[in-house]
Amino acid sequence: MAITGVKSLNYRIAEPERIASARTFFTEFGLGAPQDDAAPAFTLPDGARVRLQPPAAAAFDTAVTTETVWGVSDEDALARLVDALSRDLTLVQDARGDWHFTTPDGLPMGLGLFDRRPVLNRPDPLNAPGHVQRLNQWRKWRFRAQPRTINHVVYGVDDYKASWDFFRHRLGFRLSDHSRGLGVFLRADGACEHHNLFLANAHYHRPSAPSFQHACFGVEDVDEIMAGANHLTRLGHVSKLGLGRHRIASALFYYVDCPAGGEAEYGADTDYLDDGWVPREWDPKFGYIVWCANLPPFMQQEAGRDVRLLANEDDVDVPDLAAWRQRGAA
Ligand SMILES: [Fe+2]
Repeated sequence: MAITGVKSLNYRIAEPERIASARTFFTEFGLGAPQDDAAPAFTLPDGARVRLQPPAAAAFDTAVTTETVWGVSDEDALARLVDALSRDLTLVQDARGDWHFTTPDGLPMGLGLFDRRPVLNRPDPLNAPGHVQRLNQWRKWRFRAQPRTINHVVYGVDDYKASWDFFRHRLGFRLSDHSRGLGVFLRADGACEHHNLFLANAHYHRPSAPSFQHACFGVEDVDEIMAGANHLTRLGHVSKLGLGRHRIASALFYYVDCPAGGEAEYGADTDYLDDGWVPREWDPKFGYIVWCANLPPFMQQEAGRDVRLLANEDDVDVPDLAAWRQRGAA
């Protein structure tokens, strides 16, 4: 076991007023009060951090302005990963001991020792006609969300096959599923969330540069998502899709624009996997949602249902991404 999940999410933000609005946002989102006013840092219950860094405090200077530092379980594993990456990449260690580097496709990444703390949850049992799991028992009354973990991060990349090869061969990530033409969902080798990293085709809708797209923060259940969502709505924050459930990962989602960059997502009821999982491949629209409160225009037609199980990771059918880029430009 080596990488156990996201240790920290570091946003590089040049404008002091945007640091201030991002600080307010993450407090309203449920991450509590940050430490350090100059470079606010929020700590989640599993020990992960969200940092809002002025350029002088950030250990990266890429065009992509959000860095993910991956948590590593022990010193030997960290030393092995750092040593192997150092053969062809430049790694810089910060005062905390975390290592920082840029992937060949331009993503700012890091590695650091991470004692990921277990988090305790006990979702209310579900009732259905003829299936009574909650008798004479109140459901929990929710008022706010309090995210426990950073479940996954999403980056748009120029060539997701090339980016996947890097994360697969250099950092040990496993393939969970493939949305044909849209991207690959990857799980860190020491984690069980369906995916910790989604590498998305930056040119799927239109040509665009590599970018950070969103981070998903794990909460207990649908009630906690919607208590947090209603709180954010009352404060004027906007979600385009509203509540929905992905088919990929089975997870409930609620995205909201984040002033630090990209979107922040509340997530719950995701699939958990280990190496016994068989990856699947399907049309992106079919994998995208089971249902959604505000159906977007591109989902007005039902998606095709062709699903393929992949005998192994090399069985993946990645379309010609260069042609995809040109189609997007047309
Ligand atoms: Fe997500």
